[in-house]
Amino acid sequence: MKLIEFRSYFRSQLKEVSSVEQSDDFLKRITQNYFGWDAVKFGLEPDYQLSDFELSKLSLALRDLEREKPLQYILGTSHFMNLDFEVNSFVLIPRPETEELVEWILKNENDASPKTILDIGTGSGCIAIALKQGAPNWKISAVDVSEKALLVAKKNAKNNELDVEFYLEDILDEPSWPIGLDIIVSNPPYVLPSEKGKMKNNVLAYEPDLALFVPENDPLLFYNRIIEFGQKNLNQGGALYFEINPIFVKELYSFLKNHNFESVEVRKDFLKKPRMIKAVKSTT
Ligand SMILES: C[S@@+](CC[C@H](N)C(=O)[O-])C[C@H]1O[C@@H](n2cnc3c(N)ncnc32)[C@H](O)[C@@H]1O
Repeated sequence: MKLIEFRSYFRSQLKEVSSVEQSDDFLKRITQNYFGWDAVKFGLEPDYQLSDFELSKLSLALRDLEREKPLQYILGTSHFMNLDFEVNSFVLIPRPETEELVEWILKNENDASPKTILDIGTGSGCIAIALKQGAPNWKISAVDVSEKALLVAKKNAKNNELDVEFYLEDILDEPSWPIGLDIIVSNPPYVLPSEKGKMKNNVLAYEPDLALFVPENDPLLFYNRIIEFGQKNLNQGGALYFEINPIFVKELYSFLKNHNFESVEVRKDFLKKPRMIKAVKSTT
């Protein structure tokens, strides 16, 4: 089959789930990743004859896309803060709003002094590893309850040649931490089961439930535990940074105020939704 014929076939097979522009973008990214092809190949060599190997690799990717598998899981890689991260079904695909959280921390806190940081619920390791890239003199540790996620995170730190310590910890067990922390950051699970109806199938069917959902009757479970953990383990004047579910911003704001945190600040993401919160542990 010629390249241009395959593109038409690819577009028509995906027409229920993707626009033509999106299908073309998928195909360019897949052929770039699999075969190292430049996007201009489609214009310069439309009559290129696909080999059996190429055709079978592309057909498998197409089948996954028809089933709405995210492209990042098909390719096994995702981009975050100019770094490449390996991803698989045990880790959440890093999101652009989480990049904004990392940028906010680096902007506020990167004053060249050494700091100790803990990322709770690290998943692919994206927050911890990107922070290390932005602030090389920070000592960064990260925890997750999923052993399989930690394997991915460790690989990502190694591949990007950035030094982060990873530990298997269940934050709901209220672990104590061996050293005082200057910053705690977390993007914990925060989606309610009742929000499933408005979620896309590519998230629901493929991303890990462990990374997404909190019990319907205890939506701030992780935040409450991490705030209590922060009270015990943050140095005075240390900061907490969270990615948040916009529907709970008010509750979280009050909870932080009532738990000896001050300078509570909410920040909107690129979609203008309140998506991040920062609070400082009171010095009194
Ligand atoms: C929303 S994902 C965030 C992943 C990554 N930090 C990111 O921003 O892309 C939440 C993460 O919390 C982890 N997690 C869930 N329950 C946990 C627990 N009890 N203790 C520690 N980590 C937990 C999940 O395995 C998942 O990796």
